[in-house]
Amino acid sequence: MRLSRGVAVVGAGMTRFHHRDHADKASRELFVEAATEAMGSVDNGLKPNEIEALFVGNFSSDLFEGQTHTAALLADWMGLTPVPATRVEDACASSGVAVNMGVLAIASGAYDVVMVGGVEKMRNLGTEETTDTLAIAADAAYEVAAGFTFPGLYAAMATAHFARYGSTWEQLAAISIKNHHNGALNPKAHFQAEIMDTAARLGERQGMKFGDEMEFLRSPLNPVVAYPLRLFDCCPVSDGSAVVILAAEEVARKFTDTPVHIRGIGQASDTMALHDRGDIATLRATRLAASQAYGMAGVEAADIDVADVHDCFTIAEVLATEDLGFFPKGEGGKAAAEGRTSLDGERPVNPDGGLKAKGHPVGATGAAMAYEMFLQLRGEAGKHQVDDAMIGLAHNVGASGGTVVVQVYGR
Ligand code: COA
Repeated sequence: MRLSRGVAVVGAGMTRFHHRDHADKASRELFVEAATEAMGSVDNGLKPNEIEALFVGNFSSDLFEGQTHTAALLADWMGLTPVPATRVEDACASSGVAVNMGVLAIASGAYDVVMVGGVEKMRNLGTEETTDTLAIAADAAYEVAAGFTFPGLYAAMATAHFARYGSTWEQLAAISIKNHHNGALNPKAHFQAEIMDTAARLGERQGMKFGDEMEFLRSPLNPVVAYPLRLFDCCPVSDGSAVVILAAEEVARKFTDTPVHIRGIGQASDTMALHDRGDIATLRATRLAASQAYGMAGVEAADIDVADVHDCFTIAEVLATEDLGFFPKGEGGKAAAEGRTSLDGERPVNPDGGLKAKGHPVGATGAAMAYEMFLQLRGEAGKHQVDDAMIGLAHNVGASGGTVVVQVYGR
């Protein structure tokens, strides 16, 4: 796959991902907040009438908010009408796919400047209703009817990985500790605390003390959600929005001297139901999407300096770092436990805290990864900046891997 012309990111914005912070806000307000920040971030300015189209990822404003026709609504609230406004729904990969749609629309020659965003307001519903709403991104007839939820599906992948490769829950815990550490450095993250700080806070409430992270993570304060996954193996339920401004390479320099180039994109699908896959300790769609994106960018896995990967559950980060080719199959957990994916490691993964600590308002996650790559490759990520990041990768998974999208970014 080849693009007819190059595309760059020239601006990016994001709300904090949280629940309490956004209690009184609807999707439209979250989106306007992120989009306004994105427009304001364009170094040489961008007028609303320069935006020619909007692509927006959203999983289910239908069920979370009783509102459909989301893209037109958001274009309206952002003052962008009458531009074409299109909603993309691919479960948790909705706005990652929207980024690719924006890239393809510009590469086709149809537009020079496009706004791409994602938004989800999940916390209108309680935990049980939210779990049921998320579950319909799995196969409703075969998996949901059999009692599967998303923690359950990823738990099945985790036990398969443990059985096949001898990986361990302790390795998953190392990923959680790392991502909470990174989240503590990110002012936009849902959780901005080291696990030890949370352990001390929760322990005080219960009259308990913990000597280290693992003691806390093994305690009843970190209950099993779906064996072997515990609370701190799961991403939280968050509200939020992220937006990027894409421009054709020919016009990008009009907006900024430091655009972030989209060097390659990829996307693949897979069977919805896990039982139809030959191997559930891998995501085939990740391997395919990555190979397309690497091929288009002319890079290899070893060239990636920084990556945001889809860690909706800690096991998902293990699968991602293996299937993207960062580590041999079966060694993703071990690599994380050895610190190789830490901020100062050889291959920093999820410097922003990942879905685990940054949060996962599902439809906004892919756009938030693009936002993070914009910051990282311009050296603007503050305390969670990866030194000398030249080539970045974003990896966004829909549900249990029925959709995967990958982008490779470069300075
Ligand atoms: N990790 C760490 N702490 C978490 C957490 C998580 N994933 N989720 C909630 N908490 C904390 C909250 O901050 C809160 O602490 P506080 O009292 O100190 O503020 C406490 O746990 C209770 O929060 P609450 O929102 O009531 O938790 P819950 O029990 O309703 O939800 C889960 C916990 C795991 C069920 C929920 O986070 C979840 O469903 N996560 C997965 C979401 C998902 O599947 N997304 C799609 C992926 S494909």
